[in-house]
Amino acid sequence: MPKLNENYLNLKESYLFSEIAHRVAAYTAANPDKKVIRLGIGDVTLPIGNSIIKALHEGVDAQASADTFKGYGPEQGYDFIRDAIVAYYEKNGVTISPKEVFVSDGAKSDTGNITDLFAQDNVILIPDPVYPVYVDTNIMNGRNITYMNATAENNFLPMPDKNLHADIIYLCSPNNPTGAAYNYEQLKEWVDYALENDAILLYDSAYECFITDETLPRSIFAIEGAKKCAVEFCSLSKTAGFTGTRCGYTIVPEALQFTSSDGREMSVNAMWNRRQTTKFNGVSYIIQKGAAQVFSEEGMAECRANIQYYQENARIIAECMDKKGIRYFGGINSPYIWFECPMGMESWEFFDYMLNQIQVVGTPGAGFGSNGKNFFRLTAFGSRENTVEAMKRFETLF
Ligand code: MLT
Repeated sequence: MPKLNENYLNLKESYLFSEIAHRVAAYTAANPDKKVIRLGIGDVTLPIGNSIIKALHEGVDAQASADTFKGYGPEQGYDFIRDAIVAYYEKNGVTISPKEVFVSDGAKSDTGNITDLFAQDNVILIPDPVYPVYVDTNIMNGRNITYMNATAENNFLPMPDKNLHADIIYLCSPNNPTGAAYNYEQLKEWVDYALENDAILLYDSAYECFITDETLPRSIFAIEGAKKCAVEFCSLSKTAGFTGTRCGYTIVPEALQFTSSDGREMSVNAMWNRRQTTKFNGVSYIIQKGAAQVFSEEGMAECRANIQYYQENARIIAECMDKKGIRYFGGINSPYIWFECPMGMESWEFFDYMLNQIQVVGTPGAGFGSNGKNFFRLTAFGSRENTVEAMKRFETLF
């Protein structure tokens, strides 16, 4: 009999969004005549921009002729997309090198897979509430987690505790699920803390494209010293509508070096490269062709138009919260609105209440951690029509 990884016994029975899908499926099966509006999982609804679609088609066509056919590509991504990502960072004032860019099928995989690089006995700091992938992937590996409280009192932006040593710190900004975003000074404190503690920051910037406030950093590498202590995960899911198409990238600086127990220098970039070349054969050429077009002027303009559409949805949701006198966070610099459950309800109770009363699906805050138990998340990624309709229904709820 194989000995299974019993750490899996320590996980919740199902992944948050699977649990939500399961509850909604049960409701729709019992109520087939009701129109359910889904503002739960942060899944985009607008089609991908024309020039990006054209590039995807070109990628397909290339596979049809012997002279343009592509077999296995570089595991790290083709040069054309690594260069495009470098140029994108440069436009935002951040210099990275193509060797530091690793193209993948998305930030979810990379934030989970990076755990391969770390030993068991690290002090791992993760905010509560948080994107469940960081927690679950560490539990799968049998690691202990120290939680840092993200609450309304600290605007859901926990800061370092100088009395506490950590080795690995997860940060997400703009944050999923709370929509809160760190400013330069706050991130500088985190970078300084990481450098003092010889720690690594695992920084998820999947929602950077939603930042409209120009005083906020879009990358951890905009902070001095970050290349010595941080890895950044980003994704085209929300930037370019690639939730189904799948493409992301991770920046692992060459300056990120730590010392092994026997005194040897270990490069995180070299380790990630070794990990990826062993376990991953790269993103398909077709997808990379489309993804590279995202970073062109035309592609970016198409993406920006879609993002603005979602930002207007966020405004509509926030306006409804204002009308109802509900305290909320996010909605600006973020596609998520994180609000206090009305009527003193807990979040799963409120989830069921909304589903039954008005057929609107959101995400219960408890699914992101215990500090979320009285909060609820709505996403701005729905269609305009559904967002407006959902908020009309919400106004009648209490
Ligand atoms: C979310 O709803 O939190 C996200 O869509 C999940 C993800 O990006 O994997």
